[in-house]
Amino acid sequence: MKLILATNNEHKVREFKQILGNYFEEMITLKEANINHETVEDGLTFKENALKKAREITEITGLPALADDSGLCVLALNGEPGVMSARYASVDDNNASDQANRDLLLKNMEGITDRRAYFACAIALTMPDGTSYETEGRFWGEIGYCEKGENGFGYDNLFFVPEYNMTSAQMSPEQKNSMSHRGKALRELEKLL
Ligand code: IMP
Repeated sequence: MKLILATNNEHKVREFKQILGNYFEEMITLKEANINHETVEDGLTFKENALKKAREITEITGLPALADDSGLCVLALNGEPGVMSARYASVDDNNASDQANRDLLLKNMEGITDRRAYFACAIALTMPDGTSYETEGRFWGEIGYCEKGENGFGYDNLFFVPEYNMTSAQMSPEQKNSMSHRGKALRELEKLL
């Protein structure tokens, strides 16, 4: 069966294909399927947004669709930036650059010693018959004091993982997938499939 990946983010596509490649004959992105559709991510939770994104693509194409919604939650900031992670430093309603988001996070963390944070990821798989599968994963760490590492994207170079004494931007993609929020949510989905 063909599956539409409701994202054009190449980091996510690689992770999706690595873990779910065995379950679907073909996995194609929105761009590859020639679908130019942008879901309004106005849910209050990661789960709501993931389900909304996947369901809209299944309704448009009549095919199974997989979507995720993810973000960084910082305990001392009451869970911010949370579902607003991509738009944290935005002045309009569009996504801000990763750099602007990280700069704002570091500024908001000034003077805060409790640096505990987690990445959260919700994944939704929607089927043409209306059924859906939903899972969630978390990846715990701490917000660093400066950027470290070249891999990854988003907040990775500020996300320090004490057990490995490195940020998630210093990990190889395989190492990060083995413990990441998205990796965990995908493996939970694999169990359901
Ligand atoms: P989404 O594409 O709506 O899920 O937005 C997620 C946002 O959260 C991204 O723009 C990143 O800023 C952040 N984020 C989510 N997952 C990760 C990750 O694995 N590493 C770094 N940042 C992430």
